Amino acid sequence: MRIFDIIDRKKNGNTLTDEEIRFFVRSVVDGTASNEQIGAMLMAIVLRGMDEWETEVLTMAMAESGDRIDLSSIDGIKVDKHSTGGVGDKTTLILVPLVASLGIPVAKFSGRGLGLTGGTIDKLASIPDMHTNLSEEQFVSQIQRIGCAIATTARNLDPCDKKLYAIRDVTATVDCIPLIASSVMSKKIASGADAVVLDVKCGHGAFMKDVRSARKLAELCVKIGKKAGLRISAVISDMNEPLGNAVGNSLEVQEALDVLNGKGPKDLKRLTICLASHMVILGGKAKDTAEAERLLQRSIDSGRARQKFREMIRAQGGKDITEKPDLLPKSRYRGVVTAEHEGYVSGLDAAYIGHAANVLGAGRLKKEDSIDYSAGVYLYKKAGDYVKKGDELLCLYSRSRDAIMDAESDIRRAYTFSDEKPETGNIILEEKF
Ligand code: URA
Repeated sequence: MRIFDIIDRKKNGNTLTDEEIRFFVRSVVDGTASNEQIGAMLMAIVLRGMDEWETEVLTMAMAESGDRIDLSSIDGIKVDKHSTGGVGDKTTLILVPLVASLGIPVAKFSGRGLGLTGGTIDKLASIPDMHTNLSEEQFVSQIQRIGCAIATTARNLDPCDKKLYAIRDVTATVDCIPLIASSVMSKKIASGADAVVLDVKCGHGAFMKDVRSARKLAELCVKIGKKAGLRISAVISDMNEPLGNAVGNSLEVQEALDVLNGKGPKDLKRLTICLASHMVILGGKAKDTAEAERLLQRSIDSGRARQKFREMIRAQGGKDITEKPDLLPKSRYRGVVTAEHEGYVSGLDAAYIGHAANVLGAGRLKKEDSIDYSAGVYLYKKAGDYVKKGDELLCLYSRSRDAIMDAESDIRRAYTFSDEKPETGNIILEEKF
């Protein structure tokens, strides 16, 4: 068998065989397929598609391409959550301790950010002294002791996805349903949890721009997950504007803490509770959404969720920012951007804000870039708000004055205005059980 022939068959629109797909995955991992061949194969998949069966085979082959995490020594139904990536998405920081506070073990492997969307690990790493890289033994033992952990792993989890993703990133082949589904689900299967909730983002700031494609992706992932023996459900959520008001690592940790303290922006609270309620149902602690939401709200109101966040930070060596949020990194410079128009904010493009946060130093454009944990954007006005000329729209934070000036120059373009109040408030678009 030759990679050349497999590419050629996909290019001509054929359905690949089980053997061909597995050969491709093996060749990616052992390096016998060149980057040029991998890029060509990915583009052939984007243009010719993959049916459900091929995607399932690709997913399983990718999941088996490296180590698999064994969580069987942890009692109970271990739950996990995955988002397809959004700007200002700090739900993981909130729902991991929140769900764990109800006695459901939450095992969350996360990654660092690349591109427009920040990674949960970078957000966590903004907490002084926090360890984010745990060995499998440390990860498992922490969940046995306190019920949750968020970490990267040194294990060789899904090496095929790592290679494919890096090449997809530079060959315009990320936004393809079979490739996203196999990437997401192979990682989840290899991560060892029993149950998974997917947050499929939809809108300007997401790979899926419309509900139809987001639905297709969500349904495909749920099908693949169920076939692999997972308990799984999915939420399709709006990603036209950033989630919450804070974008940038330490700003987002502060906002996550606000929600655990019973405050915080409405859209963030709503989505977090929705995703968490799916986890509670899959984890077997509630029979329906109403009961799950009641339990979750009680945990926030009583301070148990916040206490669990504190335990997790302490277990991973971090300074107690729940008691002393001032310990979070603060930026040296800030720049307030004001409105030049009067009217309702009709839209706020998440992709622009994500890009500005990166310019300010909050993210990486290349893997080796370093991060300014204090950098980011804080939004005062979002879609549906009325603004007068001169009102403050947002604030930029950075340790570099030049970066603030660079970001300022075109950030106003993120906003659109109208005379009529737009319809807003629908953060949850669909749920798939
Ligand atoms: N998230 C993933 O893990 N993989 C993708 O391909 C896209 C989003």
